[in-house]
Amino acid sequence: MRQISVIAGPASIDLASRISTEIGGNLVVPELRVFPDGESKLRIPHVGDLCAVVQSTYPPTDTHLLQAMMISSKCAESGAEVCAVIPYLAYARQDRPFLEGESVTISLISKLLAASGVKCLITVDIHSKLAIGFFPKDAIENISSIPLLAEYAKSMKLNNPVAVSPDAGGAERVVEFARVLGCDSITLKKSRDRATGEVSVEPPNAELGGRDAVLVDDMISSGGSIVKAAQALQHKGASRVYAMCAHGLLLGDSAKRIEEAGVSDIITTNSIPNKYSKVDLGPAISRAIASRYRE
Ligand code: R5P
Repeated sequence: MRQISVIAGPASIDLASRISTEIGGNLVVPELRVFPDGESKLRIPHVGDLCAVVQSTYPPTDTHLLQAMMISSKCAESGAEVCAVIPYLAYARQDRPFLEGESVTISLISKLLAASGVKCLITVDIHSKLAIGFFPKDAIENISSIPLLAEYAKSMKLNNPVAVSPDAGGAERVVEFARVLGCDSITLKKSRDRATGEVSVEPPNAELGGRDAVLVDDMISSGGSIVKAAQALQHKGASRVYAMCAHGLLLGDSAKRIEEAGVSDIITTNSIPNKYSKVDLGPAISRAIASRYRE
């Protein structure tokens, strides 16, 4: 494989370090200064001719996004080929105008990354297929963390588990999870009030007497979807309920509210570092980089 510099964005230093170790790259940690007005200044001491810029764009979202673009742009200006590794890609939920007059922000993000010199984007469980379509086909790779989460679930000693998607958008995802775990799956009906953001989830038709239920989602943000889905499953007799996702944004007191709703544990990948990040994406991302840049 070509020699690669793994540039650790400020949001993803641990993950970048794991990727660098895995692929035998040269880890570069830019110097960061954040001014009192919130502006970032980044200095990259040395840049190779192939750079993987690792930066997840969790909150502060816009700061992390701009930092990813600043680093990519500096590497590209220095003559490097730039591959952005953005495990959690913010704004992917804004993939269509839900209400008249709304902007499709993921389209803008695609253009801004291209303008920053990014030639390839490696991401993880991007929110929708529609969002993928805003990037040139050969320039985006969307890694699924679902097999990794399901492998982790195998170690959880679950009792007659059922895998559950809180909404129709995760229907394919939960079928794949259930296939790897070796159980059946259910997709719940969720609706969201577009004006207030309020979520409601219908209980499933099936009785779940005594079964463990594993909720599988791409992300947990406010926690509203998981709380409502957990209540719907408990209503149908589920024994223990677990919440697993690729991206644990876990905003505000959402983790506390999820636990108070009776969820036994939350398990996320390390796309966003938090105390629930139990599934390492390093090897899967490293394989994606290696297969793209193998000589
Ligand atoms: C929605 O379509 C997504 O797949 C997630 O279910 C959602 O974004 C989670 O958000 P929250 O935790 O705020 O309910």
